[in-house]
Amino acid sequence: MQHLPANLRLLIGAGLLVLVLAGLMFYFFPSETPTVLKDGEMREAEAPLPVDDVDGAIENGIHTPTGLIASEGVHLVIAHCTACHSAKLVTQNRADREGWEKMIRWMQQTQNLWDLGEQEVAILDYLAENYAPVKSGRRPPLTDIDWYELKD
Ligand code: HEC
Repeated sequence: MQHLPANLRLLIGAGLLVLVLAGLMFYFFPSETPTVLKDGEMREAEAPLPVDDVDGAIENGIHTPTGLIASEGVHLVIAHCTACHSAKLVTQNRADREGWEKMIRWMQQTQNLWDLGEQEVAILDYLAENYAPVKSGRRPPLTDIDWYELKD
């Protein structure tokens, strides 16, 4: 160090100080990963999200941070299905079991969705049960109609 000009030594010293401070910052304040993505937001997740306190966030049968129906299996769906995109993609879709399975396969083949292992059955149960196709039928017959007399 002695052979270096004083101003260069100062520069190296300042650089080292900045590095140490930045290191300490990242150590003590690790960047927080947002757990719930908003509409249209994406991230490249490689594993399910850690899920905690799901039950505390349930109001009127809905898990409010995600909007998912809070029934059996919702923990798994939050962990696996909200890691990359908003839960809206799930809640706005309707499909039967086969349809949901196809979407999962498509994400596995093209979007790096991981193998859901043994949990896939419970996830499909949840999706097929809560986000099944809406039955479209004829409207129910009208009741209580006030008929009026046609006069000519
Ligand atoms: C590894 C990332 C990743 C995970 C985890 C993931 N998805 Fe996706 N998913 C995607 C991507 C990428 C898209 C395409 C988004 C777009 O088109 O903007 C997508 C799209 C979708 C769509 C819309 C499909 C369509 O036809 O429009 C649905 C529904 C969906 N995902 C459901 C799920 C469910 C259910 C799970 C949990 C089993 C899940 N996703 C987990 C990456 C993921």
